[in-house]
Amino acid sequence: MRIGSFRQIKRRKSYIMEDNTEEIPSVARLAVLKKSANLPKDKELVKGYDFNDGIDYHALLQSYRTSGFQATNFGLAVEEINKMLACREKPMVNEDSLEADTFIKRKTHCTIFLGYTSNMASAGIRDTIRFLVQHKMVDCIVTSAGGVEEDLIKCLAPTILGDFALDGAELRDKGLNRIGNLIVPNENYCLFEEWVMPILDELLQEQLEKNIIWSPSKVITRLGEKIANPESICYWAAKNEIPIFSPALTDGSLGDMIYFHSYRNPGLVVDLVQDIRRVNTIAVKAENSGMIIIGGGVVKHHICNSNLMRNGADFSVYINTANEFDGSDSGARPDEAVSWGKIKKTATPVKVYADATLVFPLIVAETFAVKFHNEKTNQIKKK
Ligand SMILES: NC(=O)c1ccc[n+]([C@@H]2O[C@H](COP(=O)([O-])OP(=O)(O)OC[C@H]3O[C@@H](n4cnc5c(N)ncnc54)[C@H](O)[C@@H]3O)[C@@H](O)[C@H]2O)c1
Repeated sequence: MRIGSFRQIKRRKSYIMEDNTEEIPSVARLAVLKKSANLPKDKELVKGYDFNDGIDYHALLQSYRTSGFQATNFGLAVEEINKMLACREKPMVNEDSLEADTFIKRKTHCTIFLGYTSNMASAGIRDTIRFLVQHKMVDCIVTSAGGVEEDLIKCLAPTILGDFALDGAELRDKGLNRIGNLIVPNENYCLFEEWVMPILDELLQEQLEKNIIWSPSKVITRLGEKIANPESICYWAAKNEIPIFSPALTDGSLGDMIYFHSYRNPGLVVDLVQDIRRVNTIAVKAENSGMIIIGGGVVKHHICNSNLMRNGADFSVYINTANEFDGSDSGARPDEAVSWGKIKKTATPVKVYADATLVFPLIVAETFAVKFHNEKTNQIKKK
């Protein structure tokens, strides 16, 4: 055993107080028990839901706001969307009376842009989005090609629940395509081809005979009219004159069909320039604007970029799983969009880091849906 030096023994002794307890080293005491600054009077306390109060889903979701982490971001997103809805209630300052294009005409005091990645239409989120479009609760939609075709194909044949672990090679042999834990039989795309080819013929004929120049949003409106199925987002968007923009419309099965069509019956032109003008005009005309963007990629950037044309959105909610460390636009936080003038400096944007299939229906339940059903109940009471 090593015997301590005289100096070490003396130092150890100095920590021993008269009642034989050792004194805490002051450096440790100061570090651990550092005094806090005074907190603001309006500070919020962390609190979760108490299940002793019963199972009240509305109260449970409201408790998220004070729960911390992404639950708090969920609560902030609900508040931000409710601000958009309150702004939308106010009368417009000016009627957009001169606009001849009824799809881009300003309809409310707060124009709401909704963006979603294709997989949202593959998943059950399609039904949540359809509810918003059916009841004219959003004004402008941006999605990627799959967001259009998956919605239409579901009217022809269903998407089936599968498993993330299903073997790719086996699925290929069986003609089954996997999207996460969903399965789309290849047969569905064959049905889509049968359905869409005559419509592409029709578009080409109108282009040649009536000099119509098609754009992705105009093609989508026509597809929505043709599908004539109230389960479809595209159907309600066409009926309610809500434009759906898809600047990369050829990057999906629709692109495959347009490619085949270019051999069968060549000549169809789809013009992007009309659409950039249309989507940017919606943003420029907006008295206030709100962005709800599910996922990243083209849909996120396209909505943010159009809002640059009005020096930034007033209200913003991002829901996605992407992070910013790689410099991707998908992962960019709202503050990056502020630096570009895509979100206003004075805004209170929110990003919820979560799988949208978990949180988006719950966000809608606490915002659009509660407003819709309250109004419905009030109307019934008045009668
Ligand atoms: N069903 C499909 O996914 C499908 C079908 C046909 C074509 N495509 C094509 O694939 C291309 C890429 O698809 P995309 O641009 O729609 O998006 P994507 O699937 O590439 O997703 C972009 C980003 O959005 C975020 N995101 C995606 N799903 C999310 C979720 N559930 N919750 C939270 N965040 C999520 C992620 O950060 C992701 O990196 C597009 O051109 C599209 O048309 C996709």
